[in-house]
Amino acid sequence: MRNISLIFKQFSRSVLLVAGLVVCGLTAHAQTDAAKGEAIFKAKCTACHKIDTRMTGPALGPQLTQETDDAYLTKWIQNNQALIAAGNKKAVKIFNEYNQAGMTVFAELSDADVGNVITYIRADWKKIQDDKAKAPAGGAVAEDKGPSSLVIWGLLGVIVIAFIVILVLNKVIATLERLLLNRQGLALEEATEEEKAPADRLATVKKLLKNKKLVFFIVVCGTIAMGSFSWVTMWNTNVHQGYQPVQPIKYSHQLHAGAMKIECQYCHTGAFKSKNASIPSLNVCMNCHKSVKTESPEIHKIYDALGYDPNTAKYDSTKAKPIQWVRVHNLPDLAYFNHSQHVKVGNIKCQTCHGQVQEMQEVYQYSPLTMKWCIQCHKRTEVNGKGNAYYDSILSAHEKIKKGEKVTAAVLGGIECAKCHY
Ligand code: HEC
Ligand code: HEC
Ligand code: HEC
Ligand code: HEC
Ligand code: HEC
Ligand code: HEC
Repeated sequence: MRNISLIFKQFSRSVLLVAGLVVCGLTAHAQTDAAKGEAIFKAKCTACHKIDTRMTGPALGPQLTQETDDAYLTKWIQNNQALIAAGNKKAVKIFNEYNQAGMTVFAELSDADVGNVITYIRADWKKIQDDKAKAPAGGAVAEDKGPSSLVIWGLLGVIVIAFIVILVLNKVIATLERLLLNRQGLALEEATEEEKAPADRLATVKKLLKNKKLVFFIVVCGTIAMGSFSWVTMWNTNVHQGYQPVQPIKYSHQLHAGAMKIECQYCHTGAFKSKNASIPSLNVCMNCHKSVKTESPEIHKIYDALGYDPNTAKYDSTKAKPIQWVRVHNLPDLAYFNHSQHVKVGNIKCQTCHGQVQEMQEVYQYSPLTMKWCIQCHKRTEVNGKGNAYYDSILSAHEKIKKGEKVTAAVLGGIECAKCHY
């Protein structure tokens, strides 16, 4: 009898061990896949896509049911422009179908990120269809969160039930054991102690604390949870993705760059020529606002900042008080980023890094601006060296080096201002 009970205890502890590990694994798993994909989808895709209806781009639910080649989809989502440029048949076809509307390049998304987005889209589309199928039957639609969470809750339920069964069986065995011992007239010290203070709740806790394996699981689970929490927190320190400060003037990119289609270059001239894209001086605004919307209080802020009197059309610099735009993007000083190298030489669109600015009422930081972000793009993006003055000069310098001719640092770009100056 004693042996049976020992074996049973051993067995139940092993079940607890497995259960503990499963819970740990499931909590970690629950944060991946669909949930992560949903966050990315909402942040990056909803400007142009819906799951169930066509917007700027196709309805992604049906699209991803029809297109099952995930390797192709991953390539498309990470860099559709490269696929189109390479003449991929599927890519060119859909590009033409949508009047060459053009999708943003998401080089910053890793393969796993894209996988999560695809998982989310397919799961959500399945849910939408399931809901539709249920709707005609009437009754409230259960708020389930897709098959994966159902599975998780099911497993958790099984674990809880197993736990209860173990506790009950344990009690039964203990009682039987005591009965047997009593009949033999051998009262165990332990048993009597327990009988004397049945109401002592601390005793249960103490007993649980004595179970070294249980304590071990709790400690392991706690450590994993704390560890992953601080890991995520540490990685996100100083990452200001989504940062959207309120600006002193209600200037809208959606109106100016979007509806009115003013080129980015018109205001951010620096982006093509130098390290800094630069914020335009208010004189640029005055090209239009000397005569446009002159009655608006927002435009009067421009006048006040320049010391301009709309009645006399004269500037008085003594009254000027410059506008303080709030900086949105800001790399730390230890990192050197040059716009012209990327925009002019690399021929990368502003939107690749800054998102669809022409659709933003107020600009926000679209990309994480982390080192990982820079590096991932550098690893993926192919350089186009043809008909590019920058590479022509480097190639000719290399030819000279090969031939043993004299080459100065200046030939390699050593007198370009941006190579030395911030
Ligand atoms: C700026 C708008 C825009 C954004 C943002 C955007 N897309 Fe697209 N997407 C399009 C357009 C337009 C098409 C149709 C093809 C074309 O014109 O290039 C498309 C096509 C697609 C296709 C179909 C490809 C095929 O061959 O079947 C997929 C899949 C897709 N997008 C996924 C995404 C995902 C995932 C995101 C977010 C990470 C996203 N898109 C963000 C505009 C966008
Ligand atoms: C009519 C002038 C004008 C045009 C055109 C314009 N911008 Fe701007 N942009 C501004 C002004 C003014 C600010 C500063 C206020 C703000 O952040 O909204 C700014 C801010 C920004 C910022 C944030 C800068 C920071 O503080 O980090 C980005 C990014 C940006 N613009 C990108 C673009 C892109 C991309 C386009 C083209 C699609 C564009 N802009 C077109 C005037 C313009
Ligand atoms: C190419 C001409 C042009 C330039 C340059 C321009 N704007 Fe505008 N802006 C307009 C027009 C046109 C409207 C009015 C659209 C309308 O009728 O609502 C407008 C509207 C506005 C409004 C909204 C006013 C209101 O009360 O509705 C603000 C604020 C504004 N501009 C700020 C700026 C700032 C700041 C700059 C410089 C960075 C600038 N604009 C540069 C043409 C311009
Ligand atoms: C390869 C990614 C990339 C591309 C492409 C890009 N930017 Fe930027 N942009 C950045 C980064 C990174 C910063 C932050 C720079 C810093 O803090 O030193 C930034 C900052 C800015 C700022 C704030 C002022 C400044 O110069 O620091 C403006 C305005 C801006 N970008 C506009 C543009 C416009 C307009 C284009 C397209 C012509 C463009 N950017 C293309 C990555 C990019
Ligand atoms: C969207 C993709 C993309 C992102 C994001 C990006 N880069 Fe680049 N970067 C490029 C490409 C493409 C080139 C090569 C341009 C060329 O042909 O010289 C380049 C070139 C450079 C160079 C010059 C290398 C050389 O040999 O002269 C530096 C420095 C650089 N990037 C820094 C950065 C930093 C810092 C960041 C992050 C803040 C960043 N880049 C983000 C695409 C990117
Ligand atoms: C090989 C590196 C290098 C290149 C290329 C370079 N500079 Fe400089 N520049 C410097 C150094 C170093 C200083 C600081 C010298 C000093 O303080 O005496 C400086 C100082 C300056 C100053 C004075 C700044 C001040 O506050 O005193 C200006 C302005 C300037 N450079 C502009 C330019 C321009 C414009 C170009 C491109 C045509 C350029 N530089 C190219 C290295 C360079």
